Amino acid sequence: MIESDQNVWRGGLTQDLSHVLMSEAQIQSRVAELGRALTQDYQEKDPLLVGILSGSFLFHADLVRNMNLAMAVDFMAVSSYGDRTSSSGVVRILKDLNSSIAGRHVIIIEDIVDTGLTLDYLVQNLQTRHPASLKVCALLDKKEARVRDVEVAYVGFHCPNEFVVGYGLDYRGRYRNLPFIGVLKPEVYRKAE
Ligand code: IMP
Repeated sequence: MIESDQNVWRGGLTQDLSHVLMSEAQIQSRVAELGRALTQDYQEKDPLLVGILSGSFLFHADLVRNMNLAMAVDFMAVSSYGDRTSSSGVVRILKDLNSSIAGRHVIIIEDIVDTGLTLDYLVQNLQTRHPASLKVCALLDKKEARVRDVEVAYVGFHCPNEFVVGYGLDYRGRYRNLPFIGVLKPEVYRKAE
């Protein structure tokens, strides 16, 4: 049984986790801080917050509610992992942006930067579309696993080199609905690989 601040999660979802890394309260407080920083840095810039689906959906939704300025949202879906726990480096765009970003101040919202391969591809791809500026805001930064050097301007938390789930992050499509972030027991994915 794993206890979060306000929730006690039993069985099913949390028996596969070894421990909680960031509680719901810690996440919400850090997301509010990031929202304030972005509000300050993007005044009068009408930024476009591009959420990378599906992992960033909760972070994106909470972050924009903590931004007090005119802005717009858009989403991209990419696939690089499939059902595995390590990046293949081959990124496919499953859903592209709905509109042009030429001349816009774009902020990519990512759940986690691991090897950096996905983000490196995304940054290069979006740069070719001539945004006025392009920055990255990631909830988690797993620096130790980095293969490609990508600049992450806004980071929520540094993350140990373990496979984490919850608050949008999944393993095989599960655990996204946990309001906290926890470490998945290695035997769960070793068993499946
Ligand atoms: P990268 O290309 O290795 O940086 O991986 C980026 C993507 O892989 C993230 O956007 C996540 O969707 C996924 N990912 C990387 N590490 C984890 C993890 O620990 N848990 C869940 N998903 C992860």
